[in-house]
Amino acid sequence: MQTFDQNFGLPYFSVYHKVLSLTNNRLLINVHIPMNVSIRQAAETDQKPIQQMVREERLDPRGLRWQNFVVAEADGKVVGIGQIRPFPDCPELGSVVTLKKYRGQGIAKQIVERLLADWKTPGPIYLRTRDYMTNYYAQFGFKEINLRDAPMPLRGTVRVASFVTCLFRSGFKIAVMRLDREL
Ligand SMILES: CC(C)(COP(=O)(O)OP(=O)(O)OC[C@H]1O[C@@H](n2cnc3c(N)ncnc32)[C@H](O)[C@@H]1OP(=O)(O)O)[C@@H](O)C(=O)NCCC(=O)NCCS
Repeated sequence: MQTFDQNFGLPYFSVYHKVLSLTNNRLLINVHIPMNVSIRQAAETDQKPIQQMVREERLDPRGLRWQNFVVAEADGKVVGIGQIRPFPDCPELGSVVTLKKYRGQGIAKQIVERLLADWKTPGPIYLRTRDYMTNYYAQFGFKEINLRDAPMPLRGTVRVASFVTCLFRSGFKIAVMRLDREL
């Protein structure tokens, strides 16, 4: 459901906390508590939470510029982030993070949809992701591609990331995905 806040001019989306109450291993109740989340273009003051959230999730910390980000705000703070890095010929969706407490409520989905809707440059959009996340990004139309079909700059970063994940035995592989779309 989407409503419109008259005072701040921000679109608000009603999403729901899922609260499961278990007693004696029996499911007693499933309560939905409404929460207001606004999805907006990032501002300069968001730079710090952006860097912090990316660092905490051990995602690529390079070139984080608030100008490229969309953020989700709830309870007076940034609870979700995502960006499209505007690399020439190789725009890349990334840095998608939702704070743990706010996950599973469609916040990242709204961020990704907003980023894609606002991106007006023709041509494909790429992303690098952990292999277990490919199904998640498929819902937006991204398809996994072979690394050799990725643009040169992306190939380099994927090779480095794959080396690091292998070195630290992270238990996942890096997948590359592409979204082809007509504007
Ligand atoms: C991935 C992430 C951004 C999702 O945020 P979110 O706001 O909860 O996302 P949504 O509510 O839109 O979607 C939730 C869905 O994401 C998928 N998902 C989330 N984490 C997942 C994981 N580790 N493995 C597989 N699927 C996962 C599931 O399909 C989940 O659905 P469910 O709630 O029914 O289980 C969040 O879990 C996060 O910040 N993770 C750590 C950072 C990260 O890995 N980012 C992605 C980098 S490629």
